[in-house]
Amino acid sequence: MRVDIVILAAGQGSRMKSALPKVLHCVAGKPMVQHVIERAQECASHFGSGNIHVVIGHGGAQVKERLNRLDVSWVEQTEQKGTGHAVAQSLPNLAGADRVLVLYGDVPLTSADSLIELVGSLDDAPLSLLTVNLDNPSGYGRIVRNPQGSVTGIVEHKDATEAQLAMTEVNTGILATVAENLQRWLPALNADNAQGEYYLTDIVAMAVAEGGRVVACNAPVEQEVQGVNNRQQLAGLERWYQHREAIRLMAEGATLLDPARIDVRGTLTVGNDVVIDVNCVFEGEVRLADGVSIGPNCVISDTLVGAGSRIKANSVLEQAVVGQHCEVGPFARLRPGTELKANAKIGNFVETKKTLVGAGSKINHLSYVGDAELGERVNVGAGTITCNYDGVNKFKTQIKHGAFIGSNTSLVAPVTVGEGATTGAGSTITKSVDDGELAVARGRQKNLSGWQRPVKQDN
Ligand code: UD1
Ligand code: MG
Repeated sequence: MRVDIVILAAGQGSRMKSALPKVLHCVAGKPMVQHVIERAQECASHFGSGNIHVVIGHGGAQVKERLNRLDVSWVEQTEQKGTGHAVAQSLPNLAGADRVLVLYGDVPLTSADSLIELVGSLDDAPLSLLTVNLDNPSGYGRIVRNPQGSVTGIVEHKDATEAQLAMTEVNTGILATVAENLQRWLPALNADNAQGEYYLTDIVAMAVAEGGRVVACNAPVEQEVQGVNNRQQLAGLERWYQHREAIRLMAEGATLLDPARIDVRGTLTVGNDVVIDVNCVFEGEVRLADGVSIGPNCVISDTLVGAGSRIKANSVLEQAVVGQHCEVGPFARLRPGTELKANAKIGNFVETKKTLVGAGSKINHLSYVGDAELGERVNVGAGTITCNYDGVNKFKTQIKHGAFIGSNTSLVAPVTVGEGATTGAGSTITKSVDDGELAVARGRQKNLSGWQRPVKQDN
């Protein structure tokens, strides 16, 4: 079955007070409309196939540019004449679809399960609505039912009577219908209402007039169908999302020192007995294997951390692979292309980039190691720098098994330090060092006896 999905994203979102179109504001690091597109894709593939049509208007060029890698078609709505008018713009694209689901680009967190249930309920009805009961239904379209309890229409807040305003079951805006109905209903809409708009919601009364049953599926939680109109609502949904992530992580075996102080902006997977201290941010794809512990204030992006490893406070890891039983930090920075083998140690104020650190090797203090390959059991002393860049090109440093790099060594790449070799503290190494050799490359110390320091004169 082909289930097409129309996502409405043409509105201005003036209450955001932003140069960025509303639907590009992020929840969990991802534009709201992208969350919607991903759930739409899940729903379409559940039923077989389906195309996704995003209706854009205000800021449309920006929306298209930001999401140009996604597999969707764009429908321009140059004038915003209402939700019915917006969906009508996509009618030509919907030819050949079996069912159509309408979503809003500013309602980011509806679950795929709710969408699948909604579309599935069309098996024996021409139209289904996702509704929710709200303590404060102000501003929403109210679901009107007849005395038998069947849905007969939706009345917009601005068009409602006092009695209708008291009803708490509201239209979330999300609905699903059999595609051929839309081709008939949408051209028949009129703008004869308080706002002078073409209301998509008027198709409910049309379905009923044709003798069709309208199904109302109740959303399981309010936040799933909550729209974002301002930054407070955006922050509210962000917290709800993070709270759910925290619950999931704990269910999967992680201890969170404070479930209210973790931010997951991507996909975080955890093994058993992972411990995450407060104020950590996880971005992109991060996997923490069994027994990993993450200290407070770490930022970890697109990184794998192997079993039993410890990332200590204030460390920043990006596109790194940390092996088993490693120690990183506090205050370490692992940049893209860093790979630590088992039992490696990276200490405080150490920056690594495109560097392989062999098993059991240590870079414990105040160093920059980039474009380098370290063998096993290498010890890099405090203050060591790989001079990997001549202003134009990058060069590689190789340090072989068991080498010992004295403190404050500058390794001018390309250069190799052989197996078991040693560099003296303060050396600037410009020539490769053979296996087992000691390289000392620094001024010789002279001690001058009888030297008199200048003496301050008393006036
Ligand atoms: C709509 C529903 C209302 C429901 C509420 C839920 C209608 C007539 N009313 O009201 O029953 O309770 O949503 O939030 O459908 N949009 C366009 N083009 C347009 C108009 C709107 O793309 O011409 C988009 C907006 O960007 C927004 C969505 O459609 O994402 C809803 O539009 P909005 O004007 O907020 O509708 P409401 O009056 O809130
Ligand atoms: Mg609205």
